[in-house]
Amino acid sequence: MGNNTRPAAGKAAEALSEEEARGELAWLAAEIARHDGLYYRSDAPEISDADYDALRLRNDAIEARFPELIRTDSPSLKVGAAPVDGFGKVRHRVPMLSLGNAFSAEDITDFVARIRRFLGLGGDAEIAFTAEPKIDGLSISLRYDKGRLVEAATRGDGTEGENVTANVRTMKEIPHRLKGDDVPETIDIRGEIFLSHADFARLNAEQAAAGQKVFANPRNAAAGSLRQLDAKITAKRPLRFFAYGWGEAKGLPGDTQSGVLTAFARWGVPTNPETTVCRSADELMDYYRALETKRASLGYDIDGIVYKVDRLDLQERLGFVSRAPRWAIAHKFPAAQATTILKDIEIQVGRTGALTPVAKLEPVTVGGVVVSNATLHNEDEIARKDVRVGDTVIVQRAGDVIPQIVSVVLERRPENSEPFRFPVVCPVCGSNAVREVDERTGEIDVVRRCTGGLICRAQRVERLKHFVSRNAFDIDGLGDKSIQAFYDDGLIQSPPDIFTLARRDAGLPKRLQDREGWGEQSAKKLFAAIDERRDVPLDRFIYGLGIRHVGETTAKVLARSYGDIEAFKAAMIEAGEGQQSEAWGDLNNIDGIGRTVAGALVEFFAEPHNVNVVDDLLNEVDPTPLEAVAAQSPVAGKTVVFTGTLEKISRSEAKARAERLGAKVAGSVSQKTDYVVAGADAGSKLTKARDLGVAVLTEEDWEQLISGA
Ligand code: IVH
Repeated sequence: MGNNTRPAAGKAAEALSEEEARGELAWLAAEIARHDGLYYRSDAPEISDADYDALRLRNDAIEARFPELIRTDSPSLKVGAAPVDGFGKVRHRVPMLSLGNAFSAEDITDFVARIRRFLGLGGDAEIAFTAEPKIDGLSISLRYDKGRLVEAATRGDGTEGENVTANVRTMKEIPHRLKGDDVPETIDIRGEIFLSHADFARLNAEQAAAGQKVFANPRNAAAGSLRQLDAKITAKRPLRFFAYGWGEAKGLPGDTQSGVLTAFARWGVPTNPETTVCRSADELMDYYRALETKRASLGYDIDGIVYKVDRLDLQERLGFVSRAPRWAIAHKFPAAQATTILKDIEIQVGRTGALTPVAKLEPVTVGGVVVSNATLHNEDEIARKDVRVGDTVIVQRAGDVIPQIVSVVLERRPENSEPFRFPVVCPVCGSNAVREVDERTGEIDVVRRCTGGLICRAQRVERLKHFVSRNAFDIDGLGDKSIQAFYDDGLIQSPPDIFTLARRDAGLPKRLQDREGWGEQSAKKLFAAIDERRDVPLDRFIYGLGIRHVGETTAKVLARSYGDIEAFKAAMIEAGEGQQSEAWGDLNNIDGIGRTVAGALVEFFAEPHNVNVVDDLLNEVDPTPLEAVAAQSPVAGKTVVFTGTLEKISRSEAKARAERLGAKVAGSVSQKTDYVVAGADAGSKLTKARDLGVAVLTEEDWEQLISGA
């Protein structure tokens, strides 16, 4: 194995010639593999952990200098189980969330004010924020166990990502081992992987010269380079990394965001040198403007600035709304714009019948991405901007959002152009398309809707697409195209059909595996993916039904309030019996559910077809109640009403905290209320609680009650 001939044994990695490095790497690969075998298989290690680590460190150091020499059998590329079929999946122990966006100075003032209000900070109490560039790359979570890199995962859907450990191990900037004596037992370090402008240009030139695909922008190039099944290709791409946060951590090396980042840097993890601490909205704006000027000379793509509350205890108190932290925000730079020709306006029909105008454009590059479609929002927007087919228009693209038409270049309008006439019948099913009038406000809805309901093919297909989508049932392998094809062929007409597909498949004249683009393996995989979703979480089930106005957050609130699907369904049907029904009262009393949502829910369940769909689905799937956030928490499942002025924390914080502990927060007091927490000057709700004999707690009582949780 060449382990006797090691002429370069004593030489530092920096001093090795290429030839010597090659020899050393060969020796190290064999030697480390031998020790792995002794340790794992024979339980008979020959060397100490420290000596073993030294071997790996030497291997890493040599590979860092000579990435092109990384061997296929390199110890740095070995992972638990080598995924043969794509990448393995990794469940994030703490979800990887996204950020809310801000676009103006006003948004930033609001952000700071919102936080001060939530925390109940007085005018003179200081609050500090970190500010750092928002890197336009891809996020990664790096797991370090006892300071050693053991797993790297992409963000994926935020809950589950791809195992890219072998690929990440080829990255020079990511340490295989953290140095320092304050490294926690385990920590997930999170950050962004990206390519510099210079490396991107070089890579594309090489790709072009080799007749290979060139990348549209550095971000795509970085993603493409990381997600290579062959880690040797990743090793050749100069991927870079900046850490910006963490997931699970058993003990943190600081009690501020900036403090933890400083510790990361000490441990050898790259952090962005532009990071700074600001103490007011004005300081944040100064930083923003300074970085906007510096943007072009940074050498890598950024699409904005991220501000985060610096103190971790405050971050904890602020918590999350939906998928984004309350304590952070992304301040985006203005969007990139371009001019092109509007070839046509197409009307798409959505899941709820909404007619959405889509601009069909002469393809144009906007901020590095080719755009051929843009949204025109709705009828009124088209009229307001007087957008006409044939016009030259200005298109804008910001981040991941759908490109928009900003305005028309009137000087270039063709002579005989005519104003666009928005259709008043559904282009798909021919039913009338109307703009509803809001009963309460008397305002006309901006959206025109097809009244065809389930007779409209477009609505049915869109509902199916929504049902299988990422945040709903999340069925892998059932994309928009397959749904459309299965629908067209009568294979899947409504959601329950998805779950009976495998059973019916055997009897079909043309089985799934014989369809174009499918095979035995992919058909099997799809059936497995479908089966996996038979125990879908209740909130996803509710969200998947595609009820108007019921988004993910509302679905969660409903799942938490009703506990299980039977109770939810029964209550919705009962609520439809009239405004006097108890169920209607309860529904409207849930904090976060307004009249519009309640109305939409009742309307959905008043339609027998919908109830049938739910029942048929329930023969196939078994929705699981929301993970009781803290099943043992003393207030889990209890209904709480806050009233009066709370002294210690703001009402929103009290509510957020109660919900985190699994309690339901209601807006008014009824028989079903378990606790009324009464602050100063509590009025009618307190009286009502006393009348009904509901337990009344002071703010201190409440604190005490939940303090054990
Ligand atoms: S913090 C819980 N900081 O932006 C908050 N994110 O829109 C976690 N990103 O998926 C995000 N630079 O991939 C944070 N300095 C930065 C960032 C950053 C880029 C990305 C990240 C995330 C997305 C959120």
